[in-house]
Amino acid sequence: MQITETAFGQYDGQEITAITLQNEQGVSLTAINYGATVIAWHVPDKEGRFQNIVLGFDRLEDYLQHHTYYGATVGRVAGRIGKGRFSLDGQDYQLEANQNGNHLHGGTLGLDQAVWDYEIREGETEASILFRHVDLDGSNGYPGRLEAEVVYTLTEDQEWRVEYHARTDRPTLFNPTNHTYFNLSQEAGQDVLQHLLLVDSSRVPELDKTMLPTGQFLDVAGTPFDFRRPARIQQAAALDHPQTQLAGGLDHPFLLEHSGDFDVVLAYPEAGRSIRMHTDRDAVVIFTHNGGTDEYLLGGKPVPAYAGIALETQSLPDAINQEGFGNIVLRPDEEFYARTVYQFQLLD
Ligand code: GAL
Repeated sequence: MQITETAFGQYDGQEITAITLQNEQGVSLTAINYGATVIAWHVPDKEGRFQNIVLGFDRLEDYLQHHTYYGATVGRVAGRIGKGRFSLDGQDYQLEANQNGNHLHGGTLGLDQAVWDYEIREGETEASILFRHVDLDGSNGYPGRLEAEVVYTLTEDQEWRVEYHARTDRPTLFNPTNHTYFNLSQEAGQDVLQHLLLVDSSRVPELDKTMLPTGQFLDVAGTPFDFRRPARIQQAAALDHPQTQLAGGLDHPFLLEHSGDFDVVLAYPEAGRSIRMHTDRDAVVIFTHNGGTDEYLLGGKPVPAYAGIALETQSLPDAINQEGFGNIVLRPDEEFYARTVYQFQLLD
C-alpha cells in the first residue's frame, strides 16, 4: 500500500488534509479530515482506465460552499427525526428542525462539518485511516459527550470498509451513515439511470410529504421499489408511483433481509464495473440525487439529475419515535460498533 497526505486547505484555523490509500493494483481511496469525507475512489474500467466512481470535489472551498453531504460522515443521527423531538428516559429533547419542520442529518453543524483527528494504520494487505472526533455534550442539541471513530480501510481485494466505534457519557442517540454517491460511468456529467441495482429488501417504509416515515410499510412487489432482481435505476425515475413522485425518484429506506452474501449490488456493465455492498445495519437509505444543479461542476461538467446513487446504511429513520423501527439509543456502558463493506469488482 502506498499512502500519501496532501494539504487540502484550512477550515476554522485547522489544516485539512487529503489522505490517499493506494493498493498494489493502483486502486485508491482518498478521504479528508473535514467531515471524515471520502472524496474519491479510483478504480479501473474494463479497458483498464482508472476513474473516480464517487461524487466529490477537488477543492475544499466547494465542500464549504455547497452543503451536498457528498462522501461525508453524517450524524449523530442520519436521516430525519420527526419535528426534531424525542424523549429519552423520561426527558424531552428538542433538536434543530433544519428541514421541512424535521431534524435532518444531525443538524446544520453535524458530524459532516467537524474537523476530525486522524491516524493511519498499515497492515499486510490493507491500510486504514482512523478518524476520531469528540462531539461535546449538547452539541446540536444531543445529550452526552460522544467519542466517535470512523475507520476507512482499503484492502488488496478491492474492499472499502467503513467501521464506526462510539462511546458516550450520558444516554444519547447515535445512528451514523456515510453519504457517498456512486457513479460507475466512464464520463463526467452522466447520470446513473442505466446502472443496474439489486437490493435485498421487500419492505420499504412509506413516507409522508415531509419525507418522514408514516409507520406503514410498502410491499415492494409490483412497485418501482422492487430491486430483488437486478433492474435499471430508471424504473424509479419513471415517477409512476405516489412514493417515487413524492421524492422525484428514490429517497427511501429499504429494510434489509440479509438473506445472502450481499445486501446491495450496483453495476454498470457498459463500463465493466460493479460494487457489492454488505452491512450489519438494518436498512439502507437509497437516494438517487433527484435533481441536477448548475451551482457547481463535477469533473468539469454540469450536474444532471440522478448524478449518483447514495447507499446510506443505517437503522431506520425516526427510529426513536416509531414503534418497531429498532434501537438507536447508545448508553454509557455500551460501545457502538457498525460496519459496511463496499467491494469493487470488474465484470467480464
Ligand atoms: C439524503 C436525504 C435526502 C437529502 C440528501 C442530502 O440522505 O434522504 O432527502 O436531504 O440526503 O442532499
